[in-house]
Amino acid sequence: MTIGIIGSGALGSNFARILAKLGLSAIIANSRGPASLADLVNELGPSVKAGTVEEAASADMVLVAVRWVDAEKVLGSLPAWNGRIVIDGTNPVESFDPATSPDADDASNPLAAYGIKAIDLGGKNSSQVIQQFVPGARVVKAFNHNDVNVLKEPETAGGKRVLFYSGDDAAAKAEVRGIMEAAGFFPIDLGALDVGGPLASLPFGTLSTHNFVRI
Ligand SMILES: NC(=O)c1ccc[n+]([C@@H]2O[C@H](COP(=O)([O-])OP(=O)(O)OC[C@H]3O[C@@H](n4cnc5c(N)ncnc54)[C@H](OP(=O)(O)O)[C@@H]3O)[C@@H](O)[C@H]2O)c1
Repeated sequence: MTIGIIGSGALGSNFARILAKLGLSAIIANSRGPASLADLVNELGPSVKAGTVEEAASADMVLVAVRWVDAEKVLGSLPAWNGRIVIDGTNPVESFDPATSPDADDASNPLAAYGIKAIDLGGKNSSQVIQQFVPGARVVKAFNHNDVNVLKEPETAGGKRVLFYSGDDAAAKAEVRGIMEAAGFFPIDLGALDVGGPLASLPFGTLSTHNFVRI
């Protein structure tokens, strides 16, 4: 199996580090092209290669690790998914500069001071929207609900960090769970996408940003 990673920023690069430690074959891509990833793939070792977005998107399992505002554009013109697995690592949030943006004065937004606002999805949950961008893929929502720094340390405080995941396809979820377990995390299945997705999605999912440890 080869795993594609679209986006090489905070989430994409740290997910790549997990795969590299496991020796899993992966292709990582960003907006600037493979040459810009030379230092990263050099650090990661031989199992992770830099590629184009199309090459990463052609893998058996593909992590979407781009900002919400870029997702539709990135995913809009890719090869047919044909049942391949898409891990949706995104959250429907937008950043702004709290020092200069009028959004900082939005009293209805509890995250305004942090320069983060939720994106209005018109009543849909974020994975429903991502599923529309990747028709025919088996979507698993995962690796999205905590700061990426927790991905660097699967075992902590005498236990294993909990990672939540959700999806509508049991076999796809089992593949993603396998990676989490192999990396040393304690995965918890939150059920179907429309149940687990919103629970573990930023900014307001009840289980998002909590750092649980299985002792
Ligand atoms: N940061 C976290 O702690 C965290 C935790 C959980 C989930 N997430 C979610 O993960 C997603 C990514 O967040 P991040 O913090 O990793 O963002 P980031 O550091 O800004 O990285 C975004 C990546 O997307 C790439 N990208 C943008 N447009 C692209 C395009 N047209 N084609 C290919 N690649 C493109 C960028 O490419 P370039 O490098 O070439 O600019 C960059 O590598 C977001 O949805 C976020 O909500 C983030």
